[in-house]
Amino acid sequence: MRVDILTLFPDLFAHFLKESILGRAIKKELLDIQITNIRSFATGPHRTVDDRPYGGGDGMVLKPGPIYRALQSIERETGKSSVLLLSPQGRTFNQSAAWELSRKEHLILICGHYEGIDERIRTHCVDMELSIGDYVLSGGELAAMVVVDVVSRLVPNVLGGERSNLEDTFEDGLLEYPHFTRPKVFKDLEVPEVLLSGNHELIRVWRRTESLKRTLERRPDLLYKAKLTEEDRRILAQLQVEPRG
Ligand code: ADE
Repeated sequence: MRVDILTLFPDLFAHFLKESILGRAIKKELLDIQITNIRSFATGPHRTVDDRPYGGGDGMVLKPGPIYRALQSIERETGKSSVLLLSPQGRTFNQSAAWELSRKEHLILICGHYEGIDERIRTHCVDMELSIGDYVLSGGELAAMVVVDVVSRLVPNVLGGERSNLEDTFEDGLLEYPHFTRPKVFKDLEVPEVLLSGNHELIRVWRRTESLKRTLERRPDLLYKAKLTEEDRRILAQLQVEPRG
């Protein structure tokens, strides 16, 4: 999969693309991530990328020309791609949006800044606006990193021998069960006995119960959409009648 990121702050991506799972996937050529500085496509002696809004008001707006030329330059090389704009006004990004994006061959992510970008880019060049949550970041760069990180994990072979992404929180609509590793006792806190039992069936039921319990306590909204089995429903019925504490 190829991802192009259009930004005014290319340096922000340097470490992000070198480390961990993403760094390895790029080395293995499973992912090709290219960073483009929007300013390289600005004209004039000062390479201006923003200007005052027509109609007045505070803040600056990103000019359409540099972004348009950057998009054209990329698509001349790659052909037509899906163009995404990171913005707090977009569709909320979640795991199912990530699956959708992971099936594309090529994505172009535009990181907005200042008060926003010229509306004509949004209406004529952008296929989808994406928000990573109901808060306002100073720019789209952190949001682009979130999207690239989440989508990359779903690209075939990126996780390699590591834990399957199908076990991740949200993949079956539930939060994940708690994890423990050595030592057996840490600050007087013991690892649940069942995990030491070696009984795979008991462990499976314990994990599923913890997953359901956590989801019920923290995100009951997720239970409406989750893929629940008959066993899950029985466990939930027990959890809900058990007195707390
Ligand atoms: N740019 C500023 N805030 C954002 C958000 N919440 N999501 C995506 N892009 C943004």
